Amino acid sequence: MSDLSVNIGDLRLANPILAASGTFGYGSEVARLYDVNILGGIVTKTITRAQRPGNPPDRLAETPSGILNSIGLANVGIDNFISDKLPFLRSLSTSVIVNIAGESIDDFLFLIDRLEEHQGIDGYELNLSCPNVAGGLDFGIDPKLAGKIVKETKKRSKKCIIPKLTPNITDIAVIAKAVEDNGADAISLINTIVGMSVNVSTKRPKLGEIMGGLSGPAIRPVALAMVYKARKAVKIPLIGIGGISSVNDVLEFLITGASAVQIGTFNFVNPKAPIEILKELEQYLETNNFTSVKELSGSLITR
Ligand SMILES: Cc1cc2nc3c(=O)[nH]c(=O)nc-3n(C[C@H](O)[C@H](O)[C@H](O)COP(=O)(O)O)c2cc1C
Repeated sequence: MSDLSVNIGDLRLANPILAASGTFGYGSEVARLYDVNILGGIVTKTITRAQRPGNPPDRLAETPSGILNSIGLANVGIDNFISDKLPFLRSLSTSVIVNIAGESIDDFLFLIDRLEEHQGIDGYELNLSCPNVAGGLDFGIDPKLAGKIVKETKKRSKKCIIPKLTPNITDIAVIAKAVEDNGADAISLINTIVGMSVNVSTKRPKLGEIMGGLSGPAIRPVALAMVYKARKAVKIPLIGIGGISSVNDVLEFLITGASAVQIGTFNFVNPKAPIEILKELEQYLETNNFTSVKELSGSLITR
C-alpha cells in the first residue's frame, strides 16, 4: 500500500482529499451517504459571528462547465455552530478544518477565541474572500491586511492557520508571500472567480445579486496556474481547489505543487466523488509504484 498521508503544518492528514467549504455543509449532511472519516479532511461552511440568511434568490445559475453562486455566506452563526454542529464534527476521526470569515480582524479573532474553547477542531481556514468593512476591499486583495490577519490569528491558536486566497486579484504570488511571511501554516487556493450571466429572454441577470462566484471545471486551469505561481513564491504547503472532478485533476494539482486538494462543486454532481476519487488515487499510486503520495507533489517538469 502506498502512503497517502500528507502534512499541512503540524497537521497530518490521512490522505490529500478534502471536502471544500460551502459544498459539504457541516459534514453531517454527507455522513448519511458515506463514512466521511475516509476523507483526509472536511472544511466546514464558512462561519460568521452572527447567523446569516444569505443573499436573496436566485443564488445559483448553471454556466458552461461550472456554476455561479451568490449564496452570501448563509450560515448558522458561531453559537449554533458550537451547540449544534460541533458535537458531530468532534465525533469524527477525520481532520476537521473550520472555515471562518468576518468583517474585521476582530471578528476573526472573536471566532477563533470562541472555537478554541472547544475540542474537535484541527485547524482554521480563513476565508479572505470577504469585504473588510473598514477598508471596503476584500481581505485577500491587500497583502498587508492578509498578512496582519494571519499574524493576529496565529497569536490566538496553536492550530493550523490556513488562509484561503481569492483569485480576484492581480498577482496571487504577492498575497501568498505576505501570508507566509506572517506565519501561515499552509495556503488554500482558490475561492470562486467573479462572474455573471444574463437571461436574454427577461434581460435580467440570472443571479439576484447580479454577480456571483464561478466554480467548477471551468475554473480549473485558472486555479492550476495560481497554484503554480504560488508554488514558486512560497515554501509552505498549498491546498489546491478549483474544478476538481476526477483523479486526473487531483494529479494535475499535486504535480504542480499542491500537497492536498479540496473537492467543491463536484460534490453537487456526485456526492460520493471525493471517496471515489480517493480510491482511484490509491490505485494510481499502486500501479505506478509510488511509495508515498508526497513523491508526486511538485514533480512538475517545465523544461
Ligand atoms: C455553493 C457554493 C458555496 C460556497 N461557499 C463557500 C464558503 O462558505 N466559504 C468558502 O471559503 N468557500 C466557499 N465556496 C468556494 C469553494 O469552497 C471552492 O473554493 C470553489 O468553489 C472552487 O472549487 P470548486 O470549483 O471545486 O467548487 C463555495 C462554493 C460554492 C459552489
